[in-house]
Amino acid sequence: MSTQTALLKVMSDAARKAARGLNRDFGELNELQVSKKGAADFVSAADLKAEQTLFEALEKARPGYSFLGEERGLIQGTDKTHTWIVDPLDGTTNFLHAIPHFAINIALQREGAIVAAVTYNPVTNELFWAEKGKGCFVNDKRLRVAARTRLDESVIGTGIPFLGHGQHAKFLKELHQISQRVAGVRRFGAAALDLAYVAAGRLDGFWERDLGPWDVAGGHLLITEAGGKVTTIEGEDDVLGTGSICAANLDLHPLLVERLKAAA
Ligand code: IPD
Ligand code: CA
Ligand code: CA
Repeated sequence: MSTQTALLKVMSDAARKAARGLNRDFGELNELQVSKKGAADFVSAADLKAEQTLFEALEKARPGYSFLGEERGLIQGTDKTHTWIVDPLDGTTNFLHAIPHFAINIALQREGAIVAAVTYNPVTNELFWAEKGKGCFVNDKRLRVAARTRLDESVIGTGIPFLGHGQHAKFLKELHQISQRVAGVRRFGAAALDLAYVAAGRLDGFWERDLGPWDVAGGHLLITEAGGKVTTIEGEDDVLGTGSICAANLDLHPLLVERLKAAA
């Protein structure tokens, strides 16, 4: 059954509201004759605006919840048991380059556990969502992770380190371990959507390091609710704290972790 609970509806409505602004800004960016610097400033303003819209909508619906946003950091609420974990624009570099592949990401943490997630792609109008124990969906369609069991048939997503970010030499070793054994490796540029794609069975697996909690919190729940497994690259539990993630179905997950460990 794909009927959203009141909580999921709050999160979906907030995401759609922020998406209207991002879509407008994305359209305008395409038209703008701005300098490189001007475009970057325009995008960070769009990002901040989206986070403000999300903060207001979520605070109005659930007053007092704490809020951890990529742009504004942690805002402690009166309710310390609930925290929204929000990336208002995942895929900023895509957005800046007019590549239509980015997302709004909202997760709800209750007493340390992620209990609800929404990842929304405003361009394709795909809303990925999950609530703990209730399954994973895109719009009203139920999702399952891919059924492939062999690396040589699998397409694996990843994130490539870039200027000033990530561990370049380590990544190349990991890529070397994976790329020669799989059907393809993809770098789409929005970690939240990569994880949603694993939940949807579009990607068979994914790994990346040095992500923020707002990149992985929602996707972690989407994938486990779609029947997949999520750990750090080392096979440990603390994905949110370390920003290291390896996700796949139950057959492929140990194979990926094994190859990534061999790169260490
Ligand atoms: C980034 C994207 C990207 C990943 C980066 C993230 P942002 O998030 O998810 O795919 O490789 O490490 O920081 O900055 O676009 O929100
Ligand atoms: Ca992000
Ligand atoms: Ca972001």
